[in-house]
Amino acid sequence: MPKAVAVVTGANKGIGFAIVRALCKDFDGDVYLTARDEGRGQQAVQDLEKENLHPKFHQLDITSKESIGKLKEFLEKNYGGLDVLVNNAAIAYNVDSTVPFTEQAEVSLACNFFGTLDVCDALFPLLRPHSRVVHVSSRGGTMTLEKMGKELVSKFRSSTLTRTELIALMNQFVSDVKAGNHEAKGWCNTAYGTSKLGVIALTAVQVRAMAGDSREDILINCCCPGLVATDMNPKNPKTPDQGAETPVYLAMLPVNAGKPQGEFLGEKKVIHG
Ligand SMILES: NC(=O)c1ccc[n+]([C@@H]2O[C@H](COP(=O)([O-])OP(=O)(O)OC[C@H]3O[C@@H](n4cnc5c(N)ncnc54)[C@H](OP(=O)(O)O)[C@@H]3O)[C@@H](O)[C@H]2O)c1
Repeated sequence: MPKAVAVVTGANKGIGFAIVRALCKDFDGDVYLTARDEGRGQQAVQDLEKENLHPKFHQLDITSKESIGKLKEFLEKNYGGLDVLVNNAAIAYNVDSTVPFTEQAEVSLACNFFGTLDVCDALFPLLRPHSRVVHVSSRGGTMTLEKMGKELVSKFRSSTLTRTELIALMNQFVSDVKAGNHEAKGWCNTAYGTSKLGVIALTAVQVRAMAGDSREDILINCCCPGLVATDMNPKNPKTPDQGAETPVYLAMLPVNAGKPQGEFLGEKKVIHG
């Protein structure tokens, strides 16, 4: 049997780092701490080595198709597949950022939504039966939906939303921001929230696309880690280890668990809405 393997994106610090720490203890296989910056990633691996944990490292910038392709090739060659994928990497601009909102919209969606999508497109063919995929999104995504115009809400909530339609919606947000009319068109004034809403919607789209897949028992879910003290917001109440609990629970769902599937969870419970 090939050795089992788990990959965590954006894992050199914060919640991703804590997810790797927990998987090193719980997951029976190799755990890859990935980071866009090799130095920061290797340092993080060394920090976990001091705790007597032994993650492996691979470079991964989720906004670079070349970088994603190299990881794919590496996994194919060395493991012949993939068992756990945790899409944790994301960026968030500070609320007081002076970066123009047009740029924030483009860059946030390019990383948080399209980067996550590109990682999935490359790595999903490698998923073995019983694989677990976890997207780390945010309640910021559902809060964003609650403030949107009716027409957009019904599109995002549609149980028949397709991949093409979702991609078009994400691109539409960026172009409406550039045209200066995004709020008039029903969008909420948050690039981060919109990108995270896109990831929540993507989860259901991906599960529908997997429906006819011959590989059994692949579970794809999305979650919010809660309000966690990281560089994104150091004043938050939870520790990164606490923030890692729900993503790790989803990554470690037992064989043939059946559910949750295609859901958005917080505190290990499905969030309805
Ligand atoms: N903290 C919270 O309260 C909270 C709440 C809800 C959801 N979340 C979500 O939890 C996840 C982790 O966030 P965090 O709080 O741990 O934030 P963080 O400490 O800022 O960590 C984000 C990680 O993502 C990496 N990253 C950013 N862009 C990347 C790219 N293009 N390719 C690969 N890695 C990239 C960062 O790498 P660098 O070090 O190189 O920048 C870093 O390792 C995110 O998805 C976030 O949206 C966090």
